[in-house]
Amino acid sequence: MASDVVPSLAPRQASQLDDPLLNGEWLAIAWSREIEPGKLLARRLMATDLVLWRSQEGLHCWRDLCVHRGARLSLGAIRPAMVPSVSEPGSSRSECLVCPYHAWEYAPSGACVRIPAHPEMKPPSKARVESFQVRERYGVVWVAMGEPRGPLPDFPLPESSGFRTVLAGPYRFRALGPRVIENLLDVAHLGFVHAGLLGDPERGQVEDYAVTAGSSGMDWRGPEAREIRIWQPDPDGTGMAALVNYRYWVDGPLTAGFVKTEGVRRFGILAQVAPVNADSCESRLIMSLNYGDEVADAELLEFQDRVTEQDRVVVESQRPELLPLDLQAELHLRSDRMAIAYRKWLREIGFTYGTA
Ligand code: FES
Ligand SMILES: [Fe+2]
Repeated sequence: MASDVVPSLAPRQASQLDDPLLNGEWLAIAWSREIEPGKLLARRLMATDLVLWRSQEGLHCWRDLCVHRGARLSLGAIRPAMVPSVSEPGSSRSECLVCPYHAWEYAPSGACVRIPAHPEMKPPSKARVESFQVRERYGVVWVAMGEPRGPLPDFPLPESSGFRTVLAGPYRFRALGPRVIENLLDVAHLGFVHAGLLGDPERGQVEDYAVTAGSSGMDWRGPEAREIRIWQPDPDGTGMAALVNYRYWVDGPLTAGFVKTEGVRRFGILAQVAPVNADSCESRLIMSLNYGDEVADAELLEFQDRVTEQDRVVVESQRPELLPLDLQAELHLRSDRMAIAYRKWLREIGFTYGTA
């Protein structure tokens, strides 16, 4: 996508990404299935170009930049190691990533191990690409730009028996992450923005529900809301109306989920919103459900695409773009208490990206 490769950031916007807490977050940037052996995948995350690739050693996430003359490594190729490594004797290099420009070869460790213009020379130790921590879970590729502050988000549904998981998105928002997450946690919009699907304008009243506040400190926990009952004409794309019972939780500043239950039927989403540039982000949804086997994945995805598009239009219109953490700044009602708890918690932990 052209917008991914233009690193033009206004200075004010660039500072949005300077939040050190963002660097410790696990951000979802791809689906595992997208990183095929032998292929290079270019992605942009937090205004940084990245390249993802697999070797026998595992999955790698590097800055998409050759340290020689700054060419994009994602335009290069993965090749079997051509010669025994000069700089890493004894190592059995399976594959290496070859730069498209002067064919410097980078081993999975990130070290340059061969410079074809000087084949006898041991590459200088500074000839090393910058790499980032990367993990896979739920079919999702997670990257932390700095030292991760904790383990990957926990979402039990996809790993429980009887559940089917469908990965939806990425959905691009010209908005900042906190507004997108708050939209996911917002109960009162369902009957209006998603009329006929997730609610009914004639039944827009929100019953009281309980919220557990988040906690800060080393072991922070985001807020949680339970027992939110909503009648939905089509809760999930299966077309079966239901009075569902929602539980919402916030796993991290940009990661949140819900599970809605009706009897034994459970449908859950874990959403991760990753900043692409200072003024845009992408949301990826892990959907998991234990019913509706007769409904094809494509149909569930179509439904989710439609719902997210309805949200996108509204979220991109919101002003100010930065989520006000001062609770005097916007009006709040009882039905907004999960959003209030989210804002309070962001303030407590000192999250600055996308907030004011
Ligand atoms: S720019 Fe990559 S090898 Fe020269
Ligand atoms: Fe919505």
